[in-house]
Amino acid sequence: MNVVLNISQLLQSVPLVNPSLLAADFADLRTVIKQLEEVGAQILHLDIMDGHFVPNLSFGVPVVEAIRRITALPLDVHLMLANPEAFLSVFRKAGADILSVHIEVLPDPRPAFDTIRKLGAAAGIVSNPPTPVEAVLPFVNDADLILTMSVMPGFGGQSFNPVALEKIKRIRSAADADKLISVDGGIGDETIALAAQAGANLFVTGTALLGKPDVKAQFQRLRRQAGANGTHCQ
Ligand code: DX5
Ligand code: ZN
Repeated sequence: MNVVLNISQLLQSVPLVNPSLLAADFADLRTVIKQLEEVGAQILHLDIMDGHFVPNLSFGVPVVEAIRRITALPLDVHLMLANPEAFLSVFRKAGADILSVHIEVLPDPRPAFDTIRKLGAAAGIVSNPPTPVEAVLPFVNDADLILTMSVMPGFGGQSFNPVALEKIKRIRSAADADKLISVDGGIGDETIALAAQAGANLFVTGTALLGKPDVKAQFQRLRRQAGANGTHCQ
């Protein structure tokens, strides 16, 4: 499907819950994605792991292509790769709309941002919990999305690390208003409001959404806890 990503349109709808498909039933991805569309998801988060930068493997290009074929939702692709620059083009061709790279492997991400923009996608920068926010701050206004990890990446279902909150506050203060300020890891009922208060506007959530029996009710609940008012909740 052809998708034209419109960051300003996404920004008009914040706070946004960004479902991580890592927690989905991979035998039934089509059903999961249709359900997420029906409950009002406006973006999907796809976790790409290489077994080097993170101690786990997830899925790769063919799965992103398959997802692209069945949904017009923007695809926010989180590259947990030791060499993300080698894969920007293939993931863009597969259908990624946002490509996020880790500061730990690209201490100056601006050349990667240039490549991502030339490919027609939006650019994100990600930092892990132990990485000082100062590593990211110089680049926040070069990126479209700034993602703060609230767990060490590699696995879903981990507990939220509050070290992310102070980082998000600093990023929110340094970033222009037109940035997606995202958080990823352990986001659920107990933590989404804390991240929202710190300044996040895009909330990646895996197990706390897709692990629940009533995904629709949980989606709406998380959105409300993130500060969405009732009229924007579907
Ligand atoms: C972790 C991934 C996350 C993960 C979040 O490495 O980057 O996107 O899916 O899962 P939860 O929401 O279960 O912590
Ligand atoms: Zn992620």
